[in-house]
Amino acid sequence: MSLITLGIESSCDETGIALYHSERGLLAHTLHSQIALHNEYGGVVPELASRDHVRYALPLIRAALQKADCTLQDIDAIAYTQGPGLSGALLVGASVACALAYTLNVPTIAVHHLEGHLLSPLLSDPAPEFPFVALLVSGGHTQLMRVESVGRYTLLGESVDDAAGEAFDKSAKLLGLDYPGGALLSKLAQSGTPGRFKLPRPMLHSGDLDFSFSGLKTAVLTLTQQHELDNQTRADIAYAAQEAIVDVLANKALTALGQSGLNQLVVAGGVGANRLLRSRLNEVVGKRGGKVFYPDLEFCTDNGAMIAFAGAMRLQHQAGQRDYCFNVKPRWNLQELNYAD
Ligand code: KG4
Ligand code: ZN
Repeated sequence: MSLITLGIESSCDETGIALYHSERGLLAHTLHSQIALHNEYGGVVPELASRDHVRYALPLIRAALQKADCTLQDIDAIAYTQGPGLSGALLVGASVACALAYTLNVPTIAVHHLEGHLLSPLLSDPAPEFPFVALLVSGGHTQLMRVESVGRYTLLGESVDDAAGEAFDKSAKLLGLDYPGGALLSKLAQSGTPGRFKLPRPMLHSGDLDFSFSGLKTAVLTLTQQHELDNQTRADIAYAAQEAIVDVLANKALTALGQSGLNQLVVAGGVGANRLLRSRLNEVVGKRGGKVFYPDLEFCTDNGAMIAFAGAMRLQHQAGQRDYCFNVKPRWNLQELNYAD
């Protein structure tokens, strides 16, 4: 029996909606980014984020239905991001999902945001096959996971302080770039001089698969204080910062493949859009005969498609909820999620 799952993502500063068909795949997705809204504050303002989700959730659902040539009555289940994320923002998605599901008399599925990111490369063609190693690199998380199958995840290592995306964003801020600065820093780095600055690669040789990025931010701060920040110097610092982050990520990902004896690496999360990271990973993983899988660029950053998809996958393993009660989990460990086949 084919099923259409509506997915609602509202964990941070993007309202993402999608409709996923169990046989035909993704039918439609719509997205509203709040980047412009938070820009002048240099970071996400939680209350503004919640209010904006309220503003956009229903119009985006209508737009997605229209794009897919579906009506509300075609929806068989509603998946929403239950966490981790900003509690107010999560509550908007959860309450819209549960209210709508109640009126349509369909089940809800509470989805872990990182499971969405983790499974997003399965929406692309070619898709990886289980088992694989996943490198999750977003604004809030940097983790290496072994993915045995849908719902069976083992944490191999993670950042002990800042996430990789945070390292990009904080370095970008120090260089006077807008928030979130990851993509802007990467662009600035294109005109940087290789080798002018060398930044530390914390925990590169720690022997485990953990990361640390907070020292990098301090090193970038020191450079910005020691030098006149003309455009070339800013680009040179951006170059060194990107090199350091990518170097650590690529090295640890390669070690994770070696230790787990696997050959497929899946990269998920916003930092997975970084071009240098992609080419470096392709190179080092390719050399050992492995392959790297990325979600399509539009599904690297937060989106509704990954939530609809993760929800649809979960529905194959477990029944959805029908009590229409909801709570959100601003902090939520992905390991708690494991469910057996
Ligand atoms: O996964 P995501 O959209 O949101 C979270 O769940 O955190 O990731 C956002 C992060 C931000 O830190 C942003 O600066 C970073 O991904 N990012 C990039 C690039 N595009 C987005 N970092 C480096 N290079 C990029 N091209
Ligand atoms: Zn995310």
